[in-house]
Amino acid sequence: MLRKIGVLTSGGDSPGMNAAIRAVTRVAIAYGIEVVGIHDGYKGLVEGNYESFTKRSVADILSRGGTILGSARLPEFKEKEIQLKAIEKMKESEIDAVVVIGGDGTYRGADSLTKLGVNCIGLPGTIDNDIQGTDFTIGFDTALDTIVECVDKLRDTSSSHHRCSVVEVMGNHCGDLAIYSGLSCGAEILITPETGYDEEAVLEKLRYLDSQGKNHAIVIVTENVCDVNSLANKVSNSTSFSGRATILGHIQRGGSPSPSDRVLASRMGAKAIELLIAGEGGKCVNIRNNEIGSMTIEECVSLPRGNRKEFYRLFDRLV
Ligand code: F6P
Repeated sequence: MLRKIGVLTSGGDSPGMNAAIRAVTRVAIAYGIEVVGIHDGYKGLVEGNYESFTKRSVADILSRGGTILGSARLPEFKEKEIQLKAIEKMKESEIDAVVVIGGDGTYRGADSLTKLGVNCIGLPGTIDNDIQGTDFTIGFDTALDTIVECVDKLRDTSSSHHRCSVVEVMGNHCGDLAIYSGLSCGAEILITPETGYDEEAVLEKLRYLDSQGKNHAIVIVTENVCDVNSLANKVSNSTSFSGRATILGHIQRGGSPSPSDRVLASRMGAKAIELLIAGEGGKCVNIRNNEIGSMTIEECVSLPRGNRKEFYRLFDRLV
């Protein structure tokens, strides 16, 4: 019998996490289940940093970015000893199950806790869209909006000065923020984990674009693939464009969630509660073809990265 559940956010925050916390809380309470908010992710879970939630605890948060619960990364949570401490704390507070919102590291923690006897359900909360088995993660759409707004502005000033803007976006090891923003902004060049980095090819393409009469160019780069400052210098030194680097950084993680992220988070939050009521654990919620579903965390973390060939092919044809 499910009497009390916890909800936590873990890893990098993402816009829409609050909408998910709200949905988890309100749907659970509607079924007569008590809810506790767990502060600061797995760290708070281990330390017993819990707060009893009512429906009012999650009022006025639907439109707010960040997470009211706070988030933290706790790499030590991989250790069984720490997981057992968390189980003990949850037993003391009579928590029967937990909904965790975060990325795949967060999912692995949830799977371990389920195997130790406390059912956990994962919701995909990350701007990176790097969780397999789901078309979209909570926060990706909002981060994309932020990037597009910034790149559109960079394009204005780049075109006034015959410049090439080299823009670094987040994504961890996933090129989705780059390819979606590249297509949305009409960028000229993409450098992502999928494309790899060939500096001479990039410079050559910029020279070609210049010869075709382009008076500005946008290069979108996924973090950790190349050094955008050094690339911008090379652009200045070996093409007719003057290069400028912009690292968008954590601005991509903030802001009010888009309507799509709010709806996605609400639907996923409700699904998590339905799974827990059905006695399920060790699963994560996903969306595929606009249908909310679920799969085991084990399966999710072992799936290969989704294929984006069609996106890259389109990108090449649109430049
Ligand atoms: O996973 C989300 C993310 O924003 C990544 O895109 C980025 O690599 C990382 O988190 C940044 O982490 P931190 O907030 O610890 O600097």
